[in-house]
Amino acid sequence: MKNVLLGVTGSIAAYKAAEITRLLVKRGFSVRVIMTKSAERFISPLTFQSLTKHKVYTDLFEDVFYEDIRHISLAKGAAIAVVAPATANIIGKLASGVADDMLSTVLTAMAADKPILICPAMNTAMWENPAVQHNVKKLKSYGVLFAEPKESELVCGDTGKGALADTDSIVNAVVSLLDGKP
Ligand SMILES: Cc1cc2nc3c(=O)[nH]c(=O)nc-3n(C[C@H](O)[C@H](O)[C@H](O)COP(=O)(O)O)c2cc1C
Repeated sequence: MKNVLLGVTGSIAAYKAAEITRLLVKRGFSVRVIMTKSAERFISPLTFQSLTKHKVYTDLFEDVFYEDIRHISLAKGAAIAVVAPATANIIGKLASGVADDMLSTVLTAMAADKPILICPAMNTAMWENPAVQHNVKKLKSYGVLFAEPKESELVCGDTGKGALADTDSIVNAVVSLLDGKP
């Protein structure tokens, strides 16, 4: 059973990560969820714990044992890392090598040959911000993969690009990547 590491960040779309989790579990993957502190403001770890039957990781410094340094074992154990939804903040941190919480540290510790799929969700102005676009370009040049956000009416009332890609297409992308398909 392949391990999928799912990072959930502080976007209004965080609730959609529960459906992604459910679909991945249904497809036979073992899913390990890491939530940022901001993500916990939107959805409870209990939701992911119930769906995955595994502990949800939120704190880098919780339960550190020398036999198992959690952020390293999570990175080593994952066949793929998916961040859905991914905030402008996590994209910026990953592009800069910043590792200041559990999710950014695990992503930074992922071996270069393992796929990382980033699924951004944010307001259109945030998505179009030159710094965010620069970070996306930079990550793509490192081989990080993106599920492009959709054009849609956003929760903030604006219409434009920034909505999380369809949950089905994210799950299909994970399956294809783990099958070695482009
Ligand atoms: C109601 C609300 C909705 C938000 N939605 C988003 C979003 O969809 N995308 C985004 O990039 N940031 C969004 N933010 C801002 C992030 O939560 C904020 O930048 C936070 O620092 C992200 O932290 P994280 O990347 O560690 O989860 C939202 C904030 C609030 C209060």
